[in-house]
Amino acid sequence: MSTDSITLNAPLDMHLHLRQGKMLERVAAASAAHFAGAVIMPNLVPPVDSLDALLRYKDEVLAAIGASTFIPYMTLFFRDYSEAELQAAKPHIIGIKLYPAGVTTNSEAGTRSIDDAKPTFARMEALGIPLLVHGETSGFVLDREREFVGIYDELAREFPKLKIIMEHITTADAVAFLDTHPNVFATITVHHLLITLDDVAGGLLQPHLFCKPIAKRPEDRRALLDAALNAHPKVMFGSDSAPHPRHAKEACGCAAGVFSAPMALACLTELFDYYDALDNLQAFISGNAQRIYKLTPVAKHVTLNRQPWTVPTYLDEVTDSIDAVRLFKAADVLSWQVSSLH
Ligand code: NCD
Ligand code: ZN
Repeated sequence: MSTDSITLNAPLDMHLHLRQGKMLERVAAASAAHFAGAVIMPNLVPPVDSLDALLRYKDEVLAAIGASTFIPYMTLFFRDYSEAELQAAKPHIIGIKLYPAGVTTNSEAGTRSIDDAKPTFARMEALGIPLLVHGETSGFVLDREREFVGIYDELAREFPKLKIIMEHITTADAVAFLDTHPNVFATITVHHLLITLDDVAGGLLQPHLFCKPIAKRPEDRRALLDAALNAHPKVMFGSDSAPHPRHAKEACGCAAGVFSAPMALACLTELFDYYDALDNLQAFISGNAQRIYKLTPVAKHVTLNRQPWTVPTYLDEVTDSIDAVRLFKAADVLSWQVSSLH
């Protein structure tokens, strides 16, 4: 299929870091412009781990979005929650996000024992609340996700009605695991479809490509591409767009996170077009997520045209200070661009 224009119906970003305060105000518009909604991550400082905190954060997000048509699907930060807490939270959340303690940005308050978490998993299963997981162990960096697949396997068996979302998968092992249990699903980022560890550390170190989980081997990227381009029914797009200011990225001790919200749709369209898979983009960007999470998103059509544009280097007007936020694909020319919303 060769076409110069594609209209996507209700694109959804099923894993997004919007941050809070000034950073939230700076980044919200980029996602709200191109997406009909996003799953908002709870790894704030302190984490969003009560209904009160979640409702306050949602108000802050809605204020930052302003008049755009965009639904923030909120998540709680996993801890032990009582039945009453879960029941009260259920109407306000799309799921609960589990971070093993210390594996990524702002995860110090995360889970230290999967066994101890099981009573809460059982309550979530009974109430039909999905479990979203940052699936990395604290092992050797390239093996962390593969090692965690064993934990996914245990949970999927023990809690067969619990919907488990493997967030931002990066390995062929995780892709293969998708087919082993009906209650296991995954999100895939755009950067993990485009880069491998070579792009991060094969030449001069690229801090703006450093994220958790770290990009892996070419064969892993190939497996992710196969799943995304074929719109494997259990995968959804989740950007994991995670802005950090330059002083946190270009530092001794670089923060993990790639900021991809502003060009994610254009990059995906270019990629699906390159592989002659544009017919599957709608399912990857929205259809699968709607089916998996039983969502009915707001009506929002986003049209992209085959028209070259240059990705800006930095977000907004803050371009030459330590507070600047550098974009994924900065200064690259992409062959597709978002042209209109309706
Ligand atoms: C995320 C962040 O900065 O909040 N960073 C990242 O590298 N992906 C956290 C996360 O999703 O792991
Ligand atoms: Zn994330």
